[in-house]
Amino acid sequence: NNKIIIAIDGFSSTGKSTIAKQLAKQLGYIYVDTGAMYRAVTLYAMEQGLVTTEVTNINGLIESLPKVRLTFTFNEALGFAEMYLNGRNVEREIRTLEVSNLVSTVAAVPEVRQKLVEEQREMGKEKGIVMDGRDIGTVVFPDAEVKLFMTASAQVRAERRYKELIEKGDDVAFDAVLANIEQRDHIDSTREDSPLVKADDAIEIDNSNLSRAAQFDQILEIVSKFS
Ligand code: C5P
Repeated sequence: NNKIIIAIDGFSSTGKSTIAKQLAKQLGYIYVDTGAMYRAVTLYAMEQGLVTTEVTNINGLIESLPKVRLTFTFNEALGFAEMYLNGRNVEREIRTLEVSNLVSTVAAVPEVRQKLVEEQREMGKEKGIVMDGRDIGTVVFPDAEVKLFMTASAQVRAERRYKELIEKGDDVAFDAVLANIEQRDHIDSTREDSPLVKADDAIEIDNSNLSRAAQFDQILEIVSKFS
């Protein structure tokens, strides 16, 4: 059984990570959430006062990048890996709307991307990996055997994210979540370095009206042709 690389890209809250986790579990592969890495760098920048709603000190951020150590540690109980920033579990903190509102600014910095892409390629060296993000099929692994590009309407995605945040006990307004999604779509798609685009050879999956199970079956069938 040949191990392959599965690249899953797409807009925010298209259910990429849910599918990627499910797929990795089914195949016995490693799952890597690259959005978590950009979020962890953003949290670091916020805590250092380098990037906040008032401050955008990109040079300061670039200078401090060598001090940012990102690791994933598998959590047996949860069944997936959690994000650690300099040895501290930040899995919860990186999912707040505050981080979401600043992450696209940080992710547009080429030096940030260079560091994380290098680490992501290292993780995929042995293949047997499902990686989700924005530039996995285009930049990180242009030779990935399977490339999926997930889409769904902004309204549907905002409803999903809103529900998730409310269930976690985050007190957010639906309009703020929708605004964040539309803003990130815009910044991610129009940035100079590695903009979010569908790779020519990626298979597009619009799941606005697709159940999770139907979608998973569809993807498993695609994957079975390659592995
Ligand atoms: O996937 P998630 O929504 O958690 O990603 C958060 C943000 O990180 C994205 O909106 C994008 O700005 C950035 N990102 C990126 N490249 C990736 C993964 C995430 O630029 N491969």
